Amino acid sequence: MKILITGSTGMVGRNLVETLKNNTGHRLLTPTHKDLDLINQEATQTYFKAHKPDIIFHCASKVGGIQANLDEPVDFLLTNMMISMNVIHAALEAGVERFLNLGSSCMYPRDREILREEDILTGKLEPTNEGYAIAKNAAACLCRYISNEYGLAYRTVIPPNLYGPYDHFDLVNSHLLPAVILKLHLAKLKGEKIVKIWGDGQARREFLYIADLIDFLVVMLNRIEELPNMINVGVGEDYTIDEYYEMTAKVIGYQGAFEHDFSKPVGMRKKLMDISHVKKFGWQAKIPLDEGLKNTYHYFLKIID
Ligand SMILES: NC(=O)c1ccc[n+]([C@@H]2O[C@H](COP(=O)([O-])OP(=O)(O)OC[C@H]3O[C@@H](n4cnc5c(N)ncnc54)[C@H](OP(=O)(O)O)[C@@H]3O)[C@@H](O)[C@H]2O)c1
Repeated sequence: MKILITGSTGMVGRNLVETLKNNTGHRLLTPTHKDLDLINQEATQTYFKAHKPDIIFHCASKVGGIQANLDEPVDFLLTNMMISMNVIHAALEAGVERFLNLGSSCMYPRDREILREEDILTGKLEPTNEGYAIAKNAAACLCRYISNEYGLAYRTVIPPNLYGPYDHFDLVNSHLLPAVILKLHLAKLKGEKIVKIWGDGQARREFLYIADLIDFLVVMLNRIEELPNMINVGVGEDYTIDEYYEMTAKVIGYQGAFEHDFSKPVGMRKKLMDISHVKKFGWQAKIPLDEGLKNTYHYFLKIID
């Protein structure tokens, strides 16, 4: 099968390429941002028509933390909208029949604690990443319209926060887990006795280990037609922020204490994916949090050397 992966140098893209390379018999097309700027409509259409992939995994996106989203809302909306509209349209124009679009849990209305696919576009989005979420919702809509109007398999997979190899470790811009790994690693090195946790530590969050998401994508390679227009691919289990700190501390060997900084924002109390649809496909996440954390820390130690 000829498989095109956009965003092949990113966290999802790299893990997917590594797995598919070992899954023999496929020909992979992995143009980087440098090779093909997906904002460029003409270049994108020319590339897709020239290569005519059997399936596209669309993993390219401008991704960033809350601060980056707040600082550059114009770019987050414009860039993500342009990339996705171009990529999905070019795929349709090139006659690509199967398309897997990567969505994100930020597509959901901000006031839901349990995220069910049918709740998408039924409420206000989180204002701190509204532009990004609008672009993600627009991409999912376009895929759904194409599926319905042309009878093609253009589907959107919605993961929660991801963690694992090729993640981005940064104290300000990372997601919670990679930031906690970096913070506790530095605290251990400096011998700090206390690490501060923002808020009361009781908000609950869900994290999916990247290998689990890749496993789902690879399983679906030959079953994409069976998928509904949008599907949550989550763990179905969440932990408090305090628990993430405690488990990460155990993995890293940080023996200091934690203190809560109640002056800092907590965010939503809970955000957990409903996974009843994905379960019907006989799929469920396999990697337990402690194992995923160990693997991620192992990767982190390799790249900071
Ligand atoms: N990571 C998560 O926790 C998470 C959670 C839920 C959903 N997702 C979704 O999963 C997808 C992949 O995320 P990720 O974490 O792998 O992101 P990432 O690590 O930031 O990778 C993004 C990729 O997109 C490429 N890209 C950006 N702008 C481009 C352009 N104009 N033309 C061509 N390529 C471009 C980047 O290349 P350069 O770096 O060279 O610009 C990079 O390869 C995204 O749709 C994201 O919303 C991610």
